[in-house]
Amino acid sequence: MTRLAEEHGAINLAQGMPDFDAPPRVKSAAIKAIAEGFNQYETTWGSEELREAIAEKALRFNRIQADPATDVTVTCGSTEAMTASIIATVDAGDEVIIPEPFYENYVPATIIGGGRPRHVRLRESGPSFDEEELKAAFSSRTKAIIINTPNNPAGKVLTKDELKLVADLCADFNSLAITDEIYEHIILSLIHI
Ligand SMILES: Cc1ncc(COP(=O)(O)O)c(C=O)c1O
Repeated sequence: MTRLAEEHGAINLAQGMPDFDAPPRVKSAAIKAIAEGFNQYETTWGSEELREAIAEKALRFNRIQADPATDVTVTCGSTEAMTASIIATVDAGDEVIIPEPFYENYVPATIIGGGRPRHVRLRESGPSFDEEELKAAFSSRTKAIIINTPNNPAGKVLTKDELKLVADLCADFNSLAITDEIYEHIILSLIHI
């Protein structure tokens, strides 16, 4: 879509393009690492220092107790984490519930894993799901549900009760909730024009 948008001079809604610069301290840290010759292979699941920092953040911010040695894996972005998680857990004949609209990579990952996507519509206003529709989507074939809140592209944020419903259904059907929390720290504000 990006190539087509460039070719036709169209407004490109297919790809996020930050319209601001990276924070100066991130840029200077990268420049410093390059200048200091920090260029060797790292432990494949992430440097110890970074995994420890992530575990500390998970405890402080998410109240999740994680062992940096066994519970934290650093990936090249959220896409790799989601794709690896889906491919690792989904087998032939499994179903993966993917609320729609959804970020584009969950469906291909499910198919590569041999599974079948099953969609549940996110509502425009009011509750995020039709509760009965969500319950009906779960079955003994459900390996996982993908949760992306705030959602790309809809911006929908699941309430605590909705997350509790998802958790209860996962427990009842022995399914996983695979969560893409890339926008965890984004604050969405509604602008009325
Ligand atoms: C929901 C969601 N997940 C993942 C990504 C991509 O993340 P990354 O670049 O970290 O792989 C995006 C980018 O738009 C996204 O919207």
